[in-house]
Amino acid sequence: MSEFRKVRKAVLPVAGLGTRFLPATKVVPKEMLPVVDKPIIQYVVDEAIAAGIEHFVFVTGRNKHVIEDYFDIQYELEATLKARNKKAELSLLTDMLPKAGTSTFTRQQEPHGLGHAVWCAREIIGPEPFALILPDMVMAADVPCLKGMMDVYDVSGGNVISVEECDPSQTHKYGIVGVGESVGSGFKITEMVEKPEPGTAPSNYFINGRYILQPEIFPILANLERGAGNEIQLTDGMLKLAKEQAFYGYAFDGQTYDCGSKEGFIIANVALALKRPDIRPKVENELKALIAALK
Ligand code: UTP
Repeated sequence: MSEFRKVRKAVLPVAGLGTRFLPATKVVPKEMLPVVDKPIIQYVVDEAIAAGIEHFVFVTGRNKHVIEDYFDIQYELEATLKARNKKAELSLLTDMLPKAGTSTFTRQQEPHGLGHAVWCAREIIGPEPFALILPDMVMAADVPCLKGMMDVYDVSGGNVISVEECDPSQTHKYGIVGVGESVGSGFKITEMVEKPEPGTAPSNYFINGRYILQPEIFPILANLERGAGNEIQLTDGMLKLAKEQAFYGYAFDGQTYDCGSKEGFIIANVALALKRPDIRPKVENELKALIAALK
């Protein structure tokens, strides 16, 4: 048993406008776009459940009510499937339902940035550590990313951030961490730099969208000045918190698909289809033919 307070709740910020996917995201939230046959949001909820998360806090916005409906019973559809004896399809719907009372939806009335979206969950999270999961980042690994982070947290406590390696020439695009001594299966973070100038990055480990944070982040976010893009930036809040509390890194061992970008979304569909025995043969053949036909 870890001596540290258990991480029971996860915040999923889904209030962004998804402008990179317009017009697809005009009426369908980005998080509901399907990767193979599940919406993006389902992948991250499954990952969080595998890590022991008991309560989900969705920070939503206007146009996002379909996410709430997705995690509810669809009586008419279920009745029709039952009447038609479609057992497999029916269990797809019932198996994914969160238990009653384990999801909370709150609204970020205006998209003032990720830091502001997280702050909107403060009353629901209360005085306990929580996981923050960016639903855009779909991850595939033998050990689910958040589970690996929990294992670090059990030893380190404090704040834990998932990172992975990028090509050293690409560090200026990301939040980069400095790597210190080992702690359990993770390491102490010595510094965090948002989009460092080329040649100045402390490592090539970039922050990839999973966090375990202490509740002291909330009063910091409440008082933050607007940062890059005129938004309340989570990174600015974490930099302030790092002056008072330790941050640890977990080097994620798996594949991350940035489904917030068109290329990442398409690759996620292809890669996860190729991992599915029922779909792989046809997709693989057709992909090979498409690539062979490229001049
Ligand atoms: P992104 O930077 O991907 O922004 O947000 P976005 O609005 O979703 O997409 P683009 O860039 O316009 O295409 C990262 C995460 O933070 C959430 C988003 O929903 C996404 O999960 N977010 C961002 C909020 O919840 N509120 C905000 O004000 C900003």
